[in-house]
Amino acid sequence: MKLTPDERKMLEGGYGAAKARALDYIIQFGEAFDAERLVDVIYVHYPAEMSIYKGLVEDLLEYAETGATVAVPTTTSTLACDLEQWDRLGCPAPVHDLQAKAVAAHRKMGMACTYTCTPQFLGYVPPKGSYIISVESSAIIYFNSVLGARTNRGGHLTRYSAITGKYPLIGYLLDENRRGTHLIRVKLAPEELRHDCDYSALGFAVGRIVGSQVPIFDFLGTPTQTSLLALGAALATSGSVALFHAPPHTAEAKTVDEAFQGAKPVEVHEITKSSIDAAFQAMTTIAPGDEIDFVTLGCPHYNLEQIRYVAEFFRSTGEKVNPGVRLWICTNRMTKQAAAWEGYTRIIEDAGGFVVCDTCPVESHMRISTCREHGLSVPQIRAMVTDSFKMARYVRDLIGCETAIRDRDSCLKAAISGRMS
Ligand code: F3S
Repeated sequence: MKLTPDERKMLEGGYGAAKARALDYIIQFGEAFDAERLVDVIYVHYPAEMSIYKGLVEDLLEYAETGATVAVPTTTSTLACDLEQWDRLGCPAPVHDLQAKAVAAHRKMGMACTYTCTPQFLGYVPPKGSYIISVESSAIIYFNSVLGARTNRGGHLTRYSAITGKYPLIGYLLDENRRGTHLIRVKLAPEELRHDCDYSALGFAVGRIVGSQVPIFDFLGTPTQTSLLALGAALATSGSVALFHAPPHTAEAKTVDEAFQGAKPVEVHEITKSSIDAAFQAMTTIAPGDEIDFVTLGCPHYNLEQIRYVAEFFRSTGEKVNPGVRLWICTNRMTKQAAAWEGYTRIIEDAGGFVVCDTCPVESHMRISTCREHGLSVPQIRAMVTDSFKMARYVRDLIGCETAIRDRDSCLKAAISGRMS
């Protein structure tokens, strides 16, 4: 692989042993994929969720002791508990204590301890064409598609990219791998794409069809930032999509033809109302009228406006969360601070809900494996209503509960009544 004089200096220890070792790993990885050179990354989103596994935390603590520090702005993905209200939320002390150790190591290495799946809501908005490395499938697909930044799934190399600011020129960093493969003709009326959960359903339906390919949507109604986020998160859940184009709403291609870079679609699919209905049915196993015990909003983590919406719902209705239901509104700590300043957190908490930071049900102590390790009953949740296909898909497998998908207002009404509408 061709190295620049500065990269050669780093490899030879000119910037310290930790960076030399990290660069060596990156070069070995790149050579395995025939990368001709490295690129400079301007930002890294780091996999803090590894801290639910003891061995990985020990490895992290040891690594932080080497004196390695990040070379570029680096944010952290979700943890397994809310660092401040973990005990109120039922998290065992050992799980929290392990997270606290990970936080100290992340700080020591110079990372911003954001613990979120939506760092873009905190101002980490890499420009179109920039190289970055990210974990968290919903963030990866948003960075690639909506912003037009270039990232692969970071995996274990993320740490070394954060330390060196380098990554091999491979995968989605290359123009040819960003070409569309599947044309998705969306045969839905604008009113059928109203809520974020409608976009989540669309993503879930299409992800199942395209797997890990690059879908091009010819119509998306009038998407918002959060509906594009919901679409991407679901595409990366039922499939393993890391990039989509939806001209003119996404960054890279102005037209559908441009998104195919002159090639023909490998496949063409139509998505109709019945495809969307089938997606809702597939993820809904709770019957209307049945009791529920959990409602999750904030997958991916909510921004300030979404929290304002929930607060306004409770303020205007004067309703309270049913005592038999836990309502989690998941976000990051920085957005919660802003929500507290605006008075939104108080309204939601007075109504009986929780504004939860740093984690979400999927990543939390409620995972079956963690419950078994700490002597907690399984499952921790019996029936969850959510507006996110990603949340529903993963809590089914990892927490073992029944699920239903509804739009945000219906989720809030279910939290109040304690029953599926
Ligand atoms: Fe984020 Fe958890 Fe959903 S990490 S994307 S809220 S499953």
